[in-house]
Amino acid sequence: MPQSASASPHAPAPERPHTGGPTAAELLAFALRTAADPGIVDSLPLDPEGRTWIRLDGPGGSEAWLIGWPPGTGTGWHDHAESRGAFATARGRLTEHALAVRLPSQGWRSLELAPGHDRTRTLAEGAGRAFGEHHVHEVLNASTEEHAVSVHAYYPPLPLIRRYSRSGPVLTLEHVERPVDWQ
Ligand SMILES: [Fe+2]
Repeated sequence: MPQSASASPHAPAPERPHTGGPTAAELLAFALRTAADPGIVDSLPLDPEGRTWIRLDGPGGSEAWLIGWPPGTGTGWHDHAESRGAFATARGRLTEHALAVRLPSQGWRSLELAPGHDRTRTLAEGAGRAFGEHHVHEVLNASTEEHAVSVHAYYPPLPLIRRYSRSGPVLTLEHVERPVDWQ
């Protein structure tokens, strides 16, 4: 299990209206700016055995996290429901496996992806990316030696995360996590 440096990485956030709020580009600008701030990045305790995290003040009511990734750790496949978001690498290097196709958010348990929708990108220190709602991905530190640290921001604050297993082209919904599960 991940080791917590503060609370859960997805602790409940106060209710906020889902209209307006920061754009994905603004969330990315925040993530990049914060990832370049050693005073914040170096405040994160690192644990060789598991991920660590600190909640940050995201812009415009967004949910933001500073996360440490020991070598070989990752998130598994998941989405962020109706939240848009961004993340940026502050230390080390992260790999993202993502689907370049929007999936139906409800009404299915398992689906087979057609070929050609998988994307992999590597985000070195100082690099980031933004994503829209229903983005499906997994993020991992593929390094065998180097810890990674990254900054993440979401708006609206995550109402839930859907977790999937992946077997070749088949994606299966395993469970839905809600803020009450993260306390
Ligand atoms: Fe994610």
